[in-house]
Amino acid sequence: MNIFIAGGTSGIGYSLAEYYLSKGYRVGVCGRDLNKISKSNSHDLIRYEADVCVKSSVEKAVLTFLDKNENLDIFINCAGSYAEDVAGEISYEEATQMLKTNILGTINCFEIARELMVHQKLGRIAVIASVSGILDYENSSLYTKTKRAIIQISDAYHRALKPFGISVTTVAPGYIDTLKLRALNNNDLSKKPFLVPLDVATKKIMEAIDAKKKLVVFPLKMKWMMTFLSALPAPILNLIMFKKAKWMKQE
Ligand SMILES: NC(=O)c1ccc[n+]([C@@H]2O[C@H](COP(=O)([O-])OP(=O)(O)OC[C@H]3O[C@@H](n4cnc5c(N)ncnc54)[C@H](OP(=O)(O)O)[C@@H]3O)[C@@H](O)[C@H]2O)c1
Repeated sequence: MNIFIAGGTSGIGYSLAEYYLSKGYRVGVCGRDLNKISKSNSHDLIRYEADVCVKSSVEKAVLTFLDKNENLDIFINCAGSYAEDVAGEISYEEATQMLKTNILGTINCFEIARELMVHQKLGRIAVIASVSGILDYENSSLYTKTKRAIIQISDAYHRALKPFGISVTTVAPGYIDTLKLRALNNNDLSKKPFLVPLDVATKKIMEAIDAKKKLVVFPLKMKWMMTFLSALPAPILNLIMFKKAKWMKQE
């Protein structure tokens, strides 16, 4: 099996890469900074420097990864840009990078996978959104809005690619214990409810892709909480989410 992971140089993407390698699959990853990948580990991991915002760079990486006439079996897009923007502290540079990576990057990855897989008439595509994108509320952050957009974009590709035998899995996880999440929170994740260990999340994502699930939301407690919150009238939901954001910002 040939598996390509965009945004596979750290965190969830890298963990998925290691998992698939341990199963004996051929795995390629791309990211902008290959130095993030530890040199001592994962000798078999095939790595490419590519930016999801530049379609041609990822396209070149995927085509180089595939030997002639080989299929691309699974394409996972883990590339994502996130910052602590709940308090309106996000800079112009962070905002544009986030929009480009999360929206344009998602479309670029879908298009690259689509072009290859439609000819093969098989394949699995997955994208990492976020549980925050499930809820529709006024005061959500720019990050949350991009993740909500990703869920909508994936939905459109799911419908369009189904007739070609291609599955699209949207992953909407709660908090996953990655170095990036820790770095954004001064290494203190005590205010992140239902935090999921990285290895547990990796297995969950891998199983959802295997089962060709359309949408997977985890952990279960977070999913239930979202279902409950979604049923609330908009003004009450807005108030709860505003208070939650304020509480999370307090030292
Ligand atoms: N951790 C969580 O709690 C959590 C929860 C819900 C959703 N998510 C989502 O899960 C994904 C991964 O998060 P993570 O915590 O594993 O963070 P991470 O370690 O920062 O992983 C992000 C990956 O994306 C790559 N990347 C970023 N911008 C890119 C670009 N323009 N082109 C190519 N690659 C790019 C990064 O590599 P380079 O820097 O080398 O480019 C890195 O490999 C993100 O989409 C995030 O929004 C995370």
